[in-house]
Amino acid sequence: MKNIIITGGAGFIGSHVVRRFVNRYTDYHIINLDNLTYAGNLENLRDIEGCSNYEFVKCDITDTKAVESLFSSKEIHSVIHLAAESHVDRSITNPIDFVMTNVVGTVVLLNAFKSFGNVTQGRFYHVSTDEVYGTLGDEGKFTESTPYDPNSPYSASKASSDHFVRAYHETFKMPIVISNCSNNYGSHQFPEKLIPLMIHNIKNNKPLPVYGKGENIRDWLWVNDHASAIDVIFHKGKNGNTYNIGGNNEWKNIDLVNKLCEIMDRKLGRNNGESAKLITYVTDRAGHDFRYAIDASKLELELGWSPSVAFDQGFEKTIDWYLENNEWLDNVTSGNYQAYYQNMYTNR
Ligand code: NAD
Ligand code: TYD
Repeated sequence: MKNIIITGGAGFIGSHVVRRFVNRYTDYHIINLDNLTYAGNLENLRDIEGCSNYEFVKCDITDTKAVESLFSSKEIHSVIHLAAESHVDRSITNPIDFVMTNVVGTVVLLNAFKSFGNVTQGRFYHVSTDEVYGTLGDEGKFTESTPYDPNSPYSASKASSDHFVRAYHETFKMPIVISNCSNNYGSHQFPEKLIPLMIHNIKNNKPLPVYGKGENIRDWLWVNDHASAIDVIFHKGKNGNTYNIGGNNEWKNIDLVNKLCEIMDRKLGRNNGESAKLITYVTDRAGHDFRYAIDASKLELELGWSPSVAFDQGFEKTIDWYLENNEWLDNVTSGNYQAYYQNMYTNR
């Protein structure tokens, strides 16, 4: 039995990765290490919590003592590191949290893996974002050799953590692999991010806050396809390498929101065009990156990965999930979410 730590496993992407690994690899013992911030939710993993090859450990990755005590108490084969502060808007109001979790937390984990992990057969897999590359104009795509040029405190902290992971490979010969992925959509995403926020507001007939003119472009990948890419890279990626992951699926924000409104009208039995009337243009995000697009050909050609689901299909499934899981959405939007929403959007 190999002990694999997955950090951030109670979050959006982490929960999909944990579920995939627990269900597929019965010879792995999956340890989900997460301190359950506002974005972490054990409800995301109810279906697998009784599995014998799964364990949850509540732990803050910046707590060196707690992390070292966990790593020294079991033979840790590998780490798949997803725990992070992940929302750009929050990084603008509170950058220090991003430095602590994303930079310091990553170095704490690297040190623990270096001291106690299986550095001959295992590996440290760092899950990162395409936002480290900065912003694109109308043309071109990010490749693995695009220079880092982060613009937000979030992307600066992720870029910094990527550099530390690479530095541990160069300096200590630690077996590492990094992936940089575009925007994910799917079930269980906290409704601070564009798609679930808009679904929640459409349901409740609240304004749909589109930043600036809505012309910024993102590449969207279904979260389960990100999990399958992580699976492939974890098992087949070359140590010391970076792999870009993308959906080849670029959308202007306003077009995506309009498409969402059309589908929601149909699903909620509203007149065509009713939800789109809620669209409200609000003050732009500071430092708002214009466009992200990924060239994922290295991953496709070298490791044979490609997305499994067409956007229309994945998007419908995603919307259905939020409509069928009212209780989940109600729970995560009560309490602190209300204060967050007011601070971020009132009088914007
Ligand atoms: P998320 O915000 O939904 O979840 C983050 C998880 O990390 C939560 O469960 C939270 O409790 C946990 N966490 C936060 N701080 C912690 C700490 N100090 N100690 C232990 N656990 C802590 O994030 P997500 O969207 O699932 O993103 C996961 C990873 O993927 C992040 O590293 C992010 O940078 C990266 N990523 C995200 C996207 C995206 O579209 N969401 C795209 C590319 C890469
Ligand atoms: P987001 O989901 O926060 O992801 P990221 O900033 O990491 O790409 O935002 C996606 C896009 O949607 C981004 O261009 C900002 C925009 N956006 C809005 O227009 N309104 C909103 O309320 C939010 C949260 C995002």
